[in-house]
Amino acid sequence: LSLIKEVSEFPVSDKQTLEAFRLKYISKKGVVGELFDELKQVPNEQKKSVGKILNQLKQTAEARFTELNEKLESSDSSSVDIDLSLPPVANKTGNLHPLTLTRYRIIEIFERLGFNVADGPEIEDDWHNFSALNFPENHPAREMQDTFFVEKKQSADSQDVILRTHTSNVQIRMMEKQKPPIRAIMPGRVYRNEAISARAHCFFHQVEGLYIDKNVSFADLKQTIFHFAKEMYGKDVKLRLRPSFFPFTEPSAEIDVTCLICKGAGCVVCKRSGWVEIAGAGMVHPNVLKNCGIDPEEYTGFAFGMGIERVTQLRYQVGDLRLYSENDIRFLRQFHSSD
Ligand code: PHE
Repeated sequence: LSLIKEVSEFPVSDKQTLEAFRLKYISKKGVVGELFDELKQVPNEQKKSVGKILNQLKQTAEARFTELNEKLESSDSSSVDIDLSLPPVANKTGNLHPLTLTRYRIIEIFERLGFNVADGPEIEDDWHNFSALNFPENHPAREMQDTFFVEKKQSADSQDVILRTHTSNVQIRMMEKQKPPIRAIMPGRVYRNEAISARAHCFFHQVEGLYIDKNVSFADLKQTIFHFAKEMYGKDVKLRLRPSFFPFTEPSAEIDVTCLICKGAGCVVCKRSGWVEIAGAGMVHPNVLKNCGIDPEEYTGFAFGMGIERVTQLRYQVGDLRLYSENDIRFLRQFHSSD
């Protein structure tokens, strides 16, 4: 009788203890089986009552086993109460920054024309940012690009260390390292010491382009930019080149594209004239080629530099430059790679 009590109180909490319970009592070699074997030795007159108790024990053990098994089965994780017809909770995915989206698009267009992608340092020496690009010492052109200085020149044989004011430093680094033909674009961040406003910032992004080979002409430059503009803004876009000056290109031009004059709040970049500047460009100055060990008698080339913010403004009608670096999630969430 005490065994009946033991059987009904045996602690079972999981599948393992249930199995232990089965082995101990119910299996062939278990306690109950052994007792039935011993029944043969019990004197005849007691067999009936002992047998009755043993049957009771057997039934109790088996009933408990079935009960416990069912209980465990139903609390199994696979049968937890889940409503499979409910719609899933949407995953919140991030999205790429609008400047990144524009950069990817620019790269895609130029890669199809056979341009490689290169980059260079943002902390640069005077040679790569200015001198090699044919900016004479103390020339006012250096002041056109208000420079952030990291370290002022210490002695006659050292140089100023600065934050690059344009991506043109990468042109120099490429030409110093690599023999023509060179055909690459160089996206990156640049810095200028300007007061922050809707239309100016102390850092922004450019994509430099460089193509050096035999017989590269100004017509190649124009067609390359024209192709880019059509891919970026649609085939109806028109291109306008205005004469300009950069120390490192001759002749130089500023390149405008047509844009819609929109009356909405966002279209600050589009001037009344309907033209907006997208790039500075020109034929690489012979002095620059010489500075990099390339013979200007043998090779010619063009270079251009455009602002990624400006291209993005035209694409997405964002009027205020500060929005790009404020990290306001309400702004950032509006841009998707399919746009
Ligand atoms: N580096 C020039 C700027 O930042 C742009 C430019 C690049 C012009 C290449 C001509 C050729 O204003």
